[in-house]
This record gives sequence, structure tokens and C-alpha cells, in this order.
Amino acid sequence: MILVTGGAGFIGSNFVLDWLEQTQEAVINLDALTYAGNLENLASLQHDPRHVFVRGDICDRALVDRLLAEHRPRAVVHFAAESHVDRSIHGPGAFMRTNIEGTYTLLEGVRAHWATLDSGDKAAFRFHHVSTDEVYGSLGATDPAFTESHPYEPNSPYSASKAASDHLVRAWHHTYGLPVVTTNCSNNYGPFHFPEKLIPLMIVNALAGKPLPIYGDGQNVRDWLYVRDHASAIRAVLAGGRLGETYNIGGWNEKTNLEIVHTLCDLLDELKPDPAGSYRRLITYVKDRPGHDRRYAIDARKVERELGWRPAETFETGVRKTVQWYLDHADWVAHVQSGSYRDWVEQNYAERQAG
Ligand code: NAD
Ligand code: DAU
Repeated sequence: MILVTGGAGFIGSNFVLDWLEQTQEAVINLDALTYAGNLENLASLQHDPRHVFVRGDICDRALVDRLLAEHRPRAVVHFAAESHVDRSIHGPGAFMRTNIEGTYTLLEGVRAHWATLDSGDKAAFRFHHVSTDEVYGSLGATDPAFTESHPYEPNSPYSASKAASDHLVRAWHHTYGLPVVTTNCSNNYGPFHFPEKLIPLMIVNALAGKPLPIYGDGQNVRDWLYVRDHASAIRAVLAGGRLGETYNIGGWNEKTNLEIVHTLCDLLDELKPDPAGSYRRLITYVKDRPGHDRRYAIDARKVERELGWRPAETFETGVRKTVQWYLDHADWVAHVQSGSYRDWVEQNYAERQAG
């Protein structure tokens, strides 16, 4: 059994679905169900006894201790976080609490639990911290991509809080010997992506005939990875990553934001033609994000060299699947937009609290 935190969010829910497709090992899923948590993502697991959902906060030490003592997971995969850069600019407090204090609370709970294991289980145990390339700061147009030894230079409240959490994880390994691995991944995209982020926002707005807001000049670069490829990378690092190491995960897909939006408009024009001509007509330049990082790019050679991991999707195959997924899941989008996804847990899910 493994304990996953944040498994009702975008990447966490894709990871849980992938995990239960690829293995028979059960998952305890601890998630506070903030605005970003959506149990509808896991509707297909509603009657699957291998998935136990627990609504709760990673800052709740008593709950963390209880789950670890009762279920004795062999690993913790830690996704739970406040994840949206724009929200961190408007209200950084929640980011400090969940990303820093929450990671600290988990580390302390895990450290206490780990100390109770016998030597075999102790050696096999893993704490896998899921982090971001944003901790490395911003690259110039011709700089080489981020390697694992790139200095930490976080620029937003979000990335600073994630950098702090990475440092805590590193310190708990060096000081207490906790068996940790950390992955720093580039921008994910795919099913169940909350439509506050660039790709789903553009798809949903285009289909509604609303403006497609491009920050600044649209020339900021992100490096995109299909979310199920992130899930497979985490499985690979959890299984074979060296303790105390960090692994950069990325898809070798650098694109400007304008390129992304053009691609999405063109795919939509093909799959669900715009009654008014082309979705590109909706592109609107808006005020830039304060402190907007210019470019991220991940050098993913270490994870390939050591663990043989490579993404299965190209950007072209992944983005086509993603657009098609949003076209096929209008109900999911409508529930998110109306807010009714937040009632779903009460109406449809037999929440099984541990103990
Ligand atoms: P998300 O915002 O979609 O999901 C976060 C989940 O964490 C939600 O289900 C939310 O309910 C839960 N959560 C928030 N606060 C909590 C708390 N205090 N206790 C318990 N649960 C809580 O985020 P995401 O995009 O799926 O990102 C998951 C992780 O991956 C984050 O750590 C993020 O920093 C990292 N990451 C994201 C990306 C990306 O492109 N989205 C890329 C690299 C790394
Ligand atoms: O790099 C990994 C990070 O990617 C993760 O750690 C974060 O959790 C995740 O949210 C994401 O951060 P970004 O800020 O890169 O993602 P976002 O989708 O918010 O923005 C992507 C780019 O698009 C960025 O340059 C800002 C721009 N943008 C975004 C939105 C929402 C726009 O131009 N218009 C928009 O409306």
C-alpha cells in the first residue's frame, strides 16, 4: 500500500488512475478537497476497494500519524500543494501553509513512523516529493535547460514555497537519514486539468466564444509534458531512484504561449469548427503576470540515463488527446464551472475514513 497526498487534484488523480491500472497495490488518498480537488476525477474508482479516500489536511499531524500507523504504507507520494502561480500572487498565505508547513508536517509524521519499522521495511520505505521546475527560476532565450545542479532561484510566492519544501525534504534526508527522492517536473497538461491553467482555460474559453487572454507578449516559454508521462516518471523514480537524489522530468517540448494557443485554436477548428470562422479571432493580449518567468526548459537526461524513462507522448499526440478529452467531457467542465463538482463527494462517494 502507498499513501498519496493531493490525489484528487490534476496530477494526483491522473497518478492514482495510472497506478491502479499498472499495479494491484492499494492507495490511501489523503486530500483536503480545496477548490482544486475534484473527486469526479476518480469516479471510475468509486467501487474499487484498492482506493481509499480520506478527506483531510496534510497540516493535521494527528491525522497523518493515524493514517501511517493504521495503514503502514511502504511509500508516501506527496502531491498536495497550492499549485497556481496567479493565486500565489494574490494570496500567498495558503501557499506558505500547505506547501511549507504541510510538507514539514508530513516529513515529521513520516520520520516518526519510519523509526518504528523493522530494518527491512525501513530500507524499502520511500518518501517521494513531487516538485516543479519553477524552483530554478527563469532562463534566457539561449541558456541551456535546467539540470539537477542548477541553482535555486524561485521568483513567485508559489515557486518560493515549493523551493522551501524541496529544501526541507533534502534536510530530512541529510539530517535524519529519511529515504527521500524528489522530482522536479515541467508544465503538465492532459485530462482533469483545472481550467484556471493556460491549456484548459484556452480550450474552455474558446468553446464558449470567450476571449483567450495572453499575458504580455505571449513569448514566454514553457516545457510541456503529458500528465500520464509524469505519472510513469514518478513510478520509475519511486521504484529505482537513488535516495536523496533529485530527478528532473520533462518532455523536451519547449513552446511559447502563443504557439500553444495557436495549436489549440487550430485543433479546435478541425475537431469542432468555430461557427464564426476561427478560434484565433478570440486571442486577446492582456496585462502581464507580475514577475512572469520568461522561460523554463528541463534537461531530462539524468532520469533517462539512470532509469530508462522517456515520455510516451509527443506534444502533438498529447495535445490532440487533451483537446478531444475536453470535447468529450463537457459535463466535467460544466460541473467545474458551476461549482457543483464540490457537491459530488457528498452525493456520490462513499467516503471511507480510516479507522
Ligand atoms: P492541483 O492544484 O491540481 O491539486 C492539488 C491537490 O492538493 C488538490 O486535490 C487539493 O485539494 C490538494 N490539497 C491542497 N492543499 C491541501 C492540504 N493542505 N492538505 C491536503 N490536500 C491538499 O495541483 P497539480 O497541478 O495536480 O500539482 C500537484 C503537484 O505537482 C504539486 O505539488 C505541484 O507543485 C506539482 N507540479 C505541478 C505541475 C503542473 O504543471 N501542474 C508541474 C510540476 C509539479
Ligand atoms: O512549470 C511547472 C509549473 O507549471 C507548475 O509548478 C505549476 O503548478 C503550474 O501551475 C504551471 O505554472 P505556470 O505558471 O507555468 O502555468 P499556467 O498555466 O498558469 O501558465 C502557463 C503560461 O501561460 C505562463 O507563462 C502564463 C501564461 N498564461 C497563463 C494563463 C492562465 C497566459 O498567458 N494566460 C493565462 O490566462
